[in-house]
Amino acid sequence: MSFQFLLLENIGATRIITINRPDQMNALNKATIEELHTAFAEAEDEDNVRAIVLTGAGEKAFVAGADIKEFASFSVEQGQELSLLGHEQLFNFVERLNTPVIAAMNGYAFGGGLELAMSCHMRVASSNAVMGLPEVSLGVIPGYGGTQRLPRLVGRGKATELIVTAGRLSAADALQWGLVNHVVELEALMQFTTDLAGKIEKLSPSAISSALRAVQAGFDSESVGLKAEAEEFGKCFGTEDFKEGTTAFMEKRKPTFTGK
Ligand code: COA
Repeated sequence: MSFQFLLLENIGATRIITINRPDQMNALNKATIEELHTAFAEAEDEDNVRAIVLTGAGEKAFVAGADIKEFASFSVEQGQELSLLGHEQLFNFVERLNTPVIAAMNGYAFGGGLELAMSCHMRVASSNAVMGLPEVSLGVIPGYGGTQRLPRLVGRGKATELIVTAGRLSAADALQWGLVNHVVELEALMQFTTDLAGKIEKLSPSAISSALRAVQAGFDSESVGLKAEAEEFGKCFGTEDFKEGTTAFMEKRKPTFTGK
């Protein structure tokens, strides 16, 4: 199948999936999410694909989040649906694949971009990468699993601080926090990540799938939190703060929030 917003490549038994909207910082619009679902499902179904690497096109962004322009006019119901559908098509879907997925984070990983990287089984970042969940600066909250997966990876205190301050984390800090597995120079990112995938290629696919399922089983109780996150995410779409935050982003100005 051919894709509008993705590039696919095989290196050995590793499928490289590149999100290709560099002029929009590889932001996740609806079509890209649907294409990612198809690309991951196809890779999972192919016996000769033993590992998957996910990256972003260009040298600036892995993924700068969900497409703010696309959801800015959504209602409460549409906001909630966006979150739930996203989990089903992409975020929970990737996390539950039987083929290991490594995020090669080649730049900004904000909002849905960091959430997508956290849904992958492992993360390698380039030294220029910057990460964060800046949603509260737009009057909304992380809606693609960030409130659940970030505390799991870095602990509740650090996760809460990053979320409620809309903070930014350097690659070096992310490594120290345990949010990413490795940091390498941008020029070495794909070689390092495909070498890591290459180690997987030589091992037992059935045992690796079993290991992934066993790790995931320990986190299945998170579905309660994910449901609550989708509800709270949806509620934000009915606030004046959300209108102000998203409008300010599109008008390239700082928002003024009232709490209404
Ligand atoms: N959704 C939609 N469009 C986005 C986007 C997003 N999440 N992130 C970036 N873009 C678009 C910009 O609107 C701009 O489009 P335009 O050229 O049509 O105006 C283009 O990508 C380039 O972005 P720009 O902001 O000009 O680049 P920059 O280098 O100055 O800044 C970022 C890069 C990533 C710091 C900045 O784009 C940003 O803060 N993005 C939003 C991050 C965010 O809040 N994500 C969470 C979303 S829930």
